[in-house]
Amino acid sequence: MRNPNASFSSTAARFKKHLAAFKTFLKKQASEFESEVKEQAKKCILPKGKYLRPMLVFCAAASPEPRKDAVARAAVAELIHLSSLIHDDVIDNASLRRGSPTAYKTFGAKNAVLLGDALFAHAMSIAFDEADPFVWKSSVDTVKSLCQGEIMQSLAAKGAYDYKKYLQIIDGKTAALFKFSCGVGAACAKDEAWTLAAQKAGLRLGRAYQMYDDICDWLMSEKRSGKTAGTDFVSEKYTLPVIALLSKLPKREAAKLSKSFSEFTRADMASLMKDCGVVEECKKLFDAEISAARAELEKFGGKSEYLAEFAAELAGLMPEKWGSI
Ligand code: FPP
Ligand code: MG
Repeated sequence: MRNPNASFSSTAARFKKHLAAFKTFLKKQASEFESEVKEQAKKCILPKGKYLRPMLVFCAAASPEPRKDAVARAAVAELIHLSSLIHDDVIDNASLRRGSPTAYKTFGAKNAVLLGDALFAHAMSIAFDEADPFVWKSSVDTVKSLCQGEIMQSLAAKGAYDYKKYLQIIDGKTAALFKFSCGVGAACAKDEAWTLAAQKAGLRLGRAYQMYDDICDWLMSEKRSGKTAGTDFVSEKYTLPVIALLSKLPKREAAKLSKSFSEFTRADMASLMKDCGVVEECKKLFDAEISAARAELEKFGGKSEYLAEFAAELAGLMPEKWGSI
């Protein structure tokens, strides 16, 4: 299985200069907090992520040199992402993120929530400075989607959880930020048709990424992913692998599982997933989202080349077979 942290290397290499300018900009943001908060903000802002959302901004902006506006927009995307992860780790009671203790475990729930809020507000301030109503409006709309997606996930009734509901949730909590990143990147060129296509492709790529992430929660070890594994088992989330498993199990087993996970261990469920063809089923749905993104991009020839490359790297994350957890 591939190491997810080693992925997206072609896109990262192509945008090496852009990412360097982005990291310098991001580092500076940590100093914009009160002295008592600065250390905490630094701890959250500086750990190295994969920077997928900033890369999406640069792919869609399609500029060979780092543009100031694209760098600022990439920072907005990353800061929204970071603040959402800080909140998510409180919600999921997670101790590990990007191979390090979460803000929640380090500073406590109250502080972590407020720190997430402060980072989110800081992102809004950078978006406002862009002086482009599209960037500003997209930023606030995206945060609203993220929060609503997360709320819908916690409200989703077990018996009523199906693929349609799942898509609605992941469109909100994950795909909205991929769509945002592609949209504000593409909008650097002030080309409306390209911006629209990039947003549509971004939404599909975001769905595919969350599907992959949901499989990892079941089948990938913490050592590989660098984050707490199995939170979806503990909180009994009916994510894609579980929906697929329910459709494959004999009726009695499915009825048991759709009430509660309590009669199963995580390892039992993971083995069932591997044995019942759940992985293949999820891969089919993942591939369909990648194809839909590619179809949007193909209409745009040259401009879409970098996003198409990103789509190919994302497609390469999903293994044909999963090893042991
Ligand atoms: C990860 O989900 C979480 C998200 C993609 C978004 C969560 C959004 C919020 C908590 C609202 C954020 C609020 C503000 C103000 C920005 P996951 O648990 O499936 O993924 P994981 O495996 O990375 O934990
Ligand atoms: Mg989580």
